[in-house]
Amino acid sequence: MQKKGTYKVMKKHLQDKIFEIISESADEQKQECYVIGGFVRDIFLKRPSKDIDVVVVGSGIELAEKVTQKLGRKAKLTIFKNFGTAQVKLRDLEVEFVGARKESYQRDSRNPIVENGTLEDDQNRRDFTINAMALCLNKDRFGELVDPFGGLDDLKNFVIRTPLSPDITFSDDPLRMMRGIRFAAQLGFFLESSTFEAIARNKERIEIISKERIADELNKIMLSRKPSVGFILLEKTGLLELIFPELLALKGAETKDGVGHKDNFYHTLAVLDGLCEQTDNLWLRWAGLLHDIGKPRTKRFDARLGWTFHNHNFVGEKMIPEIFRKMKLPTNEKMKYVQKIVTLHMRPIVLSEDEVTDSAIRRLLFDAGDDIDDLMKLCEADITSKNPEKVKRFRSNFQLVRQKLKEIEEKDRVRNFQPPISGQEIMESFNLPASSIVGEIKMKIKDAILDGIIPNEYQAAKEYMMLLAKELGVNTSKTK
Ligand code: CTP
Repeated sequence: MQKKGTYKVMKKHLQDKIFEIISESADEQKQECYVIGGFVRDIFLKRPSKDIDVVVVGSGIELAEKVTQKLGRKAKLTIFKNFGTAQVKLRDLEVEFVGARKESYQRDSRNPIVENGTLEDDQNRRDFTINAMALCLNKDRFGELVDPFGGLDDLKNFVIRTPLSPDITFSDDPLRMMRGIRFAAQLGFFLESSTFEAIARNKERIEIISKERIADELNKIMLSRKPSVGFILLEKTGLLELIFPELLALKGAETKDGVGHKDNFYHTLAVLDGLCEQTDNLWLRWAGLLHDIGKPRTKRFDARLGWTFHNHNFVGEKMIPEIFRKMKLPTNEKMKYVQKIVTLHMRPIVLSEDEVTDSAIRRLLFDAGDDIDDLMKLCEADITSKNPEKVKRFRSNFQLVRQKLKEIEEKDRVRNFQPPISGQEIMESFNLPASSIVGEIKMKIKDAILDGIIPNEYQAAKEYMMLLAKELGVNTSKTK
């Protein structure tokens, strides 16, 4: 039953003029009409939303046409005939109109048989109780909440639950298994136990879902406040094995001759959560998730050294294109950035353990360029030791590295530096053809700058070039 207080709250959230116009239009067409789904859920979560889904017991397209007529030129109508839906754009709002449907799927086909239905039919076929709540827009019931599955209680109790038996809801659209886990991560909710068990039971059905849609959900998990919640649920339900086996391969801690290593899956998730407190950059978060992805392939046991993961950063870097391709993540400069951070992620740690020389700092600045701050954020998040002494020591060493980075950058400006003498200039100076000796001179000039032998200036580089040429036996008599 509708509570009085709730009724009032609802009206307050439907004050935008658009709702009044939809209401009038629906009444004129004598059609029942509701706002439904994410918009209603987000009112209660106090997350203002610009995407409004309207369901009408009748034709969504006809109602959208009427609404657009009333709104005049400021509204833009798009009709999707094949789907029987229409979208009206007004200011920054996007309103989707759809007729209430009764939908049933044939077991072997992804294409539903769609029939017109009642509001109840429509609510039955939605994914979760918290997404099935509807607010009536017709004038005599304006703002009335229709919540047949207790979505409001589930919101208050932080529960994700399907309206029907979860086996039916997930088999209708297996992407919902990912959506449920994504909502749990995004909202900090729990999967109700039968919903959880049904995901584990139906996990194989995820195979009929396109990689792009799965990647979309993964990115939403990655952008949540604590992505570990999502990845742990993916692991526990068995979905992770199907959609991201390389990440699952990090799981487990082996012991040999009494020597163990940490579980790299949980370590990775701790790093990722820590990093998420410092950045909203999706691709830096991906670098956090993938920073140790090369560990399973490089794991060795050595009687003297114990467990080692030599070159796991380089192996990880090489694995990334294959992972991105398979998961339909962008294989562009975003991926290259993730690869770069993964390759370099050991450098600041090694630096902070050793004596921090100017030359090592210059090289790090040169290799990381503008991504140096992002790299430092990942490296700091990578300290997940339970030993407070160790954490303290690492943190203060990192402080030192940061300080040095700042000093050297101010002094030498090597971040994004291009060697002051080009290969072309070397060839012209000594009348040389393109050859390995030109490359060698160029590299040695760059190294001399990074090692602090000469300053990062043209004249000094030119003098050094002459010196090198003589040393390497280049004929300098015709020098320009
Ligand atoms: N829906 C569903 N099953 C899906 C996708 C969507 O039942 N696989 C329903 C839900 O009622 C959902 C509504 O359609 O609330 C709108 O879907 P969408 O806009 O994709 O999601 P939101 O719930 O609004 O959330 P978000 O925008 O965060 O994806």
